[in-house]
Amino acid sequence: MTPPSDFNDRMLSLGLARVSEAAAHASADLIGRGDEKAADQAAVNAMREQLNKLDIRGTVVIGEGERDEAPMLFIGEEVGAGTGPEVDIALDPLEGTTLTAKDMPNALTVIAMAPRGSLLHAPDVYMEKLAIGPGYEKDVVSLDMSPTERIEALARAQGVEPKNIAVCILDRPRHEDMIAEVRSTGAKIRLITDGDVAGVIHCAEPDFTGIDMYMGSGGAPEGVLAASALKCMGGQMWGKLLFRNDDERGRARKAGITDLDKIYTRDDMVRSDVIFAATGVTDGSIVKGVKREPTYIETETMLMRSKTGSLRRMIYRNPVR
Ligand code: FBP
Repeated sequence: MTPPSDFNDRMLSLGLARVSEAAAHASADLIGRGDEKAADQAAVNAMREQLNKLDIRGTVVIGEGERDEAPMLFIGEEVGAGTGPEVDIALDPLEGTTLTAKDMPNALTVIAMAPRGSLLHAPDVYMEKLAIGPGYEKDVVSLDMSPTERIEALARAQGVEPKNIAVCILDRPRHEDMIAEVRSTGAKIRLITDGDVAGVIHCAEPDFTGIDMYMGSGGAPEGVLAASALKCMGGQMWGKLLFRNDDERGRARKAGITDLDKIYTRDDMVRSDVIFAATGVTDGSIVKGVKREPTYIETETMLMRSKTGSLRRMIYRNPVR
C-alpha cells in the first residue's frame, strides 16, 4: 500500500514523540506505588490530550479496549485536531502497568501511526508471536517450527552453536513446555515478567540487547505495536491469533477478521509506512526511564520511521516549575 501524499511522516513523527513523552511524564508519579489502574489512567489522559493537538484525523485501531470497556482511547475513537491526514493509531499508553506499579524495568509508553486502513485491527485476544532481527533470509524460522527447529535454524543462519542463541520469552506457566524445550537445546533464555513489545524490539538490536529471537504468546494488540517497531528497525515477525472461547472468536469477527487461523507476517500487520515512538517509564534495556532531578524531568524516546529506517533516541528535558 503506497502511503497517501498527505501522510507527512517526517513532520508527524515529532508530534508522535510528544505524545509518548507526555504519557511517560504523567505516569512517572505512579512508579512504585502499587496502583496499576492509576498509572494507566494518568498515561491515557496525557496521551489523549496530546494526540488531540496533532493535525490528524485519527482513528484508534489498537487502544484501551472496546468502546463499552474503555471510556477513553477506545477502539474506534476519533482523535486528533480533525484536520490533516486520515490515519490509523495503535497505542498502549502504558505497556507494563504492573512493571510501573512495582517499579520494575522496561515499562514503556508506545504509539504507532500509519495511513488509514494500514494497521491490523487486532482484537484483544492472545497472539502466538515469533520475531527475529534484520539480516536473515526471509522465513529462516517460522511459527510452524518447533522451538528446537527455530533455534537450530537461527544458529545455522548465524554459523554458531545453539548455545550461542539467546531467546526472550514471557515468564508464564503457559510457556513452561516451551521454556523447557529451549533449555534442552542449550540456548540461553531471558525471561521477562511483562512487556513483550520491548521483548520483540530487543531482537532488532541483538548486539546491544544480547537477544536473537522472541517467542511465545502475549496480547495481540501488543503484537501490532511490536510489528510496527520491527518494520522501522528491520527484522521479521509472525503472529497467529489464539482463541480460548467463542466470545474471543466473536471479537475477531467484529474486528473484520474472517480467517481465524491466518499467520500474519510483519507486513500483514502493518501494510504501509509507519511511524513509531516509545518512551521509557522505568529504566530498561532499550530506553532509560523517567529521571527526576530537582529542577527538571528527563525522558528518553525512541522515534522511528519505516520509510527511512531512521531511529532517533531523543532526550527531552522539561523544567520543573
Ligand atoms: P499490560 O501493560 O496491559 O499490563 O500488559 C503487559 C503485558 O505483559 C504485555 O506486554 C503482554 O503482551 C501481555 O501483558 C501478556 O498478557 P498476560 O499477562 O495475560 O500473559
